[in-house]
Amino acid sequence: ATPSASDELKRLLTEIPDFPKPGILFRDVAPVFADGPAFKVIVDELVARFAGRFDAVAGVEARGFVLAAAAAYATGTGLLVVRKAGKLPGEVIAESYDLEYGTATLELEPNQLAPGARVLVLDDILATGGTLSAAARLIERAGYAVAGIGVLFELAELDGREQLAGYDTQVLLAE
Ligand code: PRP
Repeated sequence: ATPSASDELKRLLTEIPDFPKPGILFRDVAPVFADGPAFKVIVDELVARFAGRFDAVAGVEARGFVLAAAAAYATGTGLLVVRKAGKLPGEVIAESYDLEYGTATLELEPNQLAPGARVLVLDDILATGGTLSAAARLIERAGYAVAGIGVLFELAELDGREQLAGYDTQVLLAE
């Protein structure tokens, strides 16, 4: 039998201590992306959770881009990129969120999709939820609807879901 998406994540997600700072246990998805059959099962499961309910996908820089591109191609939908500040040209909208020390900003080029388009927002990890809540606000400010939020792995003890209340958030593996 084909292993499930959650089994593949359990097998392949790697813990890297003290990255990017001492005391942080980094969850590395690189081995998931590097394993072709696992990557396919995971992307297929992610889009299946929202089947028929989205018109486009949005990926959050940088690992969300990988998932969103695969999901968009698999479903024949378009793709938006939600980027770190200062990378996008022309008219952009921006949303900031709190980090442990300071803030971070994400940006989106508006007017890429029809108004009201249903957008599925994808990223690799849900930690504090700051990144995905800012991404969801950008989608809504651009005039689209958030069809849902899909992530591979949730660090549940950080309660990031509290910031995503009201959205259909689907997580393939939580700890
Ligand atoms: C990581 C991860 C998520 C975000 C989750 O991105 O890929 O985007 O953090 O954290 P949060 O829920 O606490 O906001 P990172 O900042 O490492 O960016 P990168 O993918 O561009 O390296």
